[in-house]
Amino acid sequence: MNASVIIRWVDVGPSAEVARQSARRVESNIGPIAVFRTVEDEYYAVLDRCPHKGGPLSEGIVHGRAIACPLHNWSISLETGEALGADAGKGCTAACRSRSRTTGFCWA
Ligand code: FES
Repeated sequence: MNASVIIRWVDVGPSAEVARQSARRVESNIGPIAVFRTVEDEYYAVLDRCPHKGGPLSEGIVHGRAIACPLHNWSISLETGEALGADAGKGCTAACRSRSRTTGFCWA
């Protein structure tokens, strides 16, 4: 079942302040959101809570369009929020839309 939640756009700040392959954690009306910048200069946002046991995804390692959770190394898709690889189908976290601008970026 797909569920949609509408949240407000939140200004995360200047995109240049988020290094490639890193993340920034920001608060939203649905809880903390982790905004990631990939090596390809793409931005993704997911709920900052691993679907396994709630680990802080914003502290994980970005690889391609996925994040490795810092607690037990599950790989989570930044595009869908779903667990990948051996843990596929075991859970997902909410993926949010993101957009970048010249002076910053937002998500909804
Ligand atoms: S809490 Fe993320 S892999 Fe266990």
